[in-house]
Amino acid sequence: MIFGVTGDLAYKMIFPALYAMAKRGALNVPLVGVATSKRSLANLRKHVADGIRKAGPIDDATALRHLLSLFRYVSGNYNDEDTFKALKKALGKARRPAHYLAIPPALFATVINGLGSVGLTNHARVIIEKPFGRDLASARKLNRLAQAAFPRNAIFRIDHYLAKEAIMNILYFRFANSFLEPIWNRNYVSSVQITLSEKFGLNGRGKFYETIGCLRDVIQNHLFQIVALLAMEPPATRDFGAVHAEKAAVFQAMRPLKADDVVRGQYAGYCKEPEVARKSDVETYCALRLFIDSWRWEGVPWYLRSGKMLAETAAEVVVQFKPPPQRLFADSGPFKGPANHLRFRLSPNQVIALAARVKCAGKEFVGEERELCLVDHQAGEETPYERLLTDAMAGDAALFSRGDAVEAAWAVVNPVLKRHHPSHRYRRGTWGPKAADALIAAHGGWRNPVPVGGTS
Ligand code: BG6
Repeated sequence: MIFGVTGDLAYKMIFPALYAMAKRGALNVPLVGVATSKRSLANLRKHVADGIRKAGPIDDATALRHLLSLFRYVSGNYNDEDTFKALKKALGKARRPAHYLAIPPALFATVINGLGSVGLTNHARVIIEKPFGRDLASARKLNRLAQAAFPRNAIFRIDHYLAKEAIMNILYFRFANSFLEPIWNRNYVSSVQITLSEKFGLNGRGKFYETIGCLRDVIQNHLFQIVALLAMEPPATRDFGAVHAEKAAVFQAMRPLKADDVVRGQYAGYCKEPEVARKSDVETYCALRLFIDSWRWEGVPWYLRSGKMLAETAAEVVVQFKPPPQRLFADSGPFKGPANHLRFRLSPNQVIALAARVKCAGKEFVGEERELCLVDHQAGEETPYERLLTDAMAGDAALFSRGDAVEAAWAVVNPVLKRHHPSHRYRRGTWGPKAADALIAAHGGWRNPVPVGGTS
């Protein structure tokens, strides 16, 4: 069941993912599209095919035909029980439906209640898009609502970052190797910084963005998930429940943010975008300093930033190690030049690189920082949505967020959602407002992701 089948998310992400699943032969269930607008099934099928074509060339006409033949369409008001009765009918003999709520969060409660009213929550799963709530109170309310209608293991909270190849590799790289563990703590790491920068702007999402802003849109979820994978303790067992528990523990140990920990920015001209308030203070850029009050990370600052209309589109983590204790060479040592770092480039390409200083040829003991590249390739073929849909339909919750973890993440940002400093303007195509540089000045400044093919 795809609620919001005529919306943007379905068009851009879900249809191409379903097509990829159909190509793999992994899709043999009815797909019931649901939306409020009246249209014919033929019209919906055309819309689905358009969305797939927009994402890339159709290279398997048989799979496309098969996919389109699986579609059914039900239109109606979500407040009307008849809509849900029609859905039940459209399901026919199919059992164990997965309800994908690709609709505005304000409609989640109405749809979940409607499903319950006709028994469509029985033996069913629900897939809920981010943002999961808009603050701690609304996330709690939504969890209560979902948990009253569905068993916990039937609720799939999406954060598509968890299904990105490079992000899954953080978990693998940390715990499939032994050399990292002794230095992966406050004794050796001086700071960590994470950048998610985007060259583009709102892409027609002004109305949505006005209610969200950068902190809610990508930091509380995508960037916090990356922090959790980097900061978590080793899971005690192999099952994904142990990973979820350790990640939740990281969110619980994060110190709630204060206004001075956050720098908000807005690109010049944002207020002239369609459906944006002329005097909007909504942030299109956000940088913050975060602490995790745990045995492993006490005192280590985590600097996170993200923004739209910046200089590059890239996502990168830099774990900065402390300098050697003594300065034995003129060009290295404490307080001079960058020390070692580990760099995870997450997108658009995937890199894991370890930076160390090596001596340059010549009689002087002078060196330079060089990176040893452990991985350097393009992201995998499977898109995050393809993976997440396949997993949710199979009941595999490993790459989804747990309810308590989402609430703990909201608890960290909750204090600054309303109490914050005004946004600073920044020029398009730059790295954001100057004020964000002051936040990280004590730790050597931001390291801007280099363009693909460039060197660090
Ligand atoms: C989405 C946000 O969740 O993530 C967008 O709503 C953002 O604003 C996007 O651009 C980034 O995801 P990706 O996969 O393109 O890095």
